Amino acid sequence: MRNIQSASLLTALLSATKVAAHGHVTNIVVNGVYYEGWDIGSFPYMGDNAPTVAAWGTPNTGNGPLAPEDYSSPDIICHQNATAGNGYVEVAAGDSINIQWTEWPESHHGPVIDYLARCEPNCASVDKTELEFFKIDGVGLVDGSDVPGTYGDDQLIANNNSWLVQIPEGIAPGYYALRHELIALHSAGEEGGAQNYPQCFNLKVTGSGTDKPAGVVGTELYKSTDDGIIFNIYQEVSSYPVPGPTLYSGAATSVKQATSAITSTGSASAVGATSAAATSAAASASTTAVSVPTSSAAKSSSFATSAAATESVAVTTTAAPSNKAAAPTQAPETSDDDEVCEDEE
Ligand SMILES: *[C@@H]1O[C@H](CO)[C@@H](O)[C@H](O)[C@H]1NC(C)=O
Ligand SMILES: *[C@@H]1O[C@H](CO)[C@@H](O)[C@H](O)[C@H]1NC(C)=O
Repeated sequence: MRNIQSASLLTALLSATKVAAHGHVTNIVVNGVYYEGWDIGSFPYMGDNAPTVAAWGTPNTGNGPLAPEDYSSPDIICHQNATAGNGYVEVAAGDSINIQWTEWPESHHGPVIDYLARCEPNCASVDKTELEFFKIDGVGLVDGSDVPGTYGDDQLIANNNSWLVQIPEGIAPGYYALRHELIALHSAGEEGGAQNYPQCFNLKVTGSGTDKPAGVVGTELYKSTDDGIIFNIYQEVSSYPVPGPTLYSGAATSVKQATSAITSTGSASAVGATSAAATSAAASASTTAVSVPTSSAAKSSSFATSAAATESVAVTTTAAPSNKAAAPTQAPETSDDDEVCEDEE
């Protein structure tokens, strides 16, 4: 038994009894290519050995939410203490991304919201507090005829716990952070009760668009008193005000939810590749999460793999399952967490 791991597991279990239950994004699928997300069951315990992924990392092993009291904290940007992934996934403007969640609790009705923020020069090296997010998707109440109603995340559950979001056709090419978020409203009848689950991925958007929509920094997206943040879902409602800034005018107005068949697996290349290697990796980027050159010497030292190796992994099987070997067993069981949640209703 490794002490550090058991201590971490214990911490995770203890925190699970305090915060209510939950989920996270396990992977995304872009044009049939699977890219793993931030595996909370193993990556937080791997330090610099965690694989390069496009997903932002977080020590939030308990799968928990953020609360309205966190809205002015940088944690709200991409989750607790999040740091940008060193990889990115390439996607053409106009293409859709399927975002796969762990099993989402049925009681957690609420909106599904997606934002993009342009990253200069790339997402791995930005100051996250300066990222300006514009909303590209926001699905709140879908059907209010029953109590509680059907919300965006009920559609997500019906869609195999996944969500399809379209990258607007008109945005200028470049690097973007995708901020995908579920807000659970089961305890939102009173101020402070909403639960936010933001999950971020780095993208490289290609295309010939020119729009650079204005956005707002993460710490100004919401206020604890916003209409859609304080909201009682246990009464008959005919509408729900999706929180956050208004939808970008070039966003798709409605995306029919569907799953994306996985035809191959894209894998991140080594972090800290030299600039030559990074360029070469970028050239092969259409099906690969490519590492972004960073100035982090600490990170580069653990990863000396060549760009050639990077290119060869583009369509091999995923490395994700094997990472679990180095990890404690998957943290908190959602069934237990759910009971905690039900209590809050
Ligand atoms: C998040 O960062 C703060 C400030 O650096 C630190 O005190 C806290 O322990 C961190 N939380 C986790 C879960 O790592
Ligand atoms: C549904 O989600 C699971 C992961 O939870 C995945 O393995 C499976 O391929 C998905 N099914 C479809 C049809 O996308």
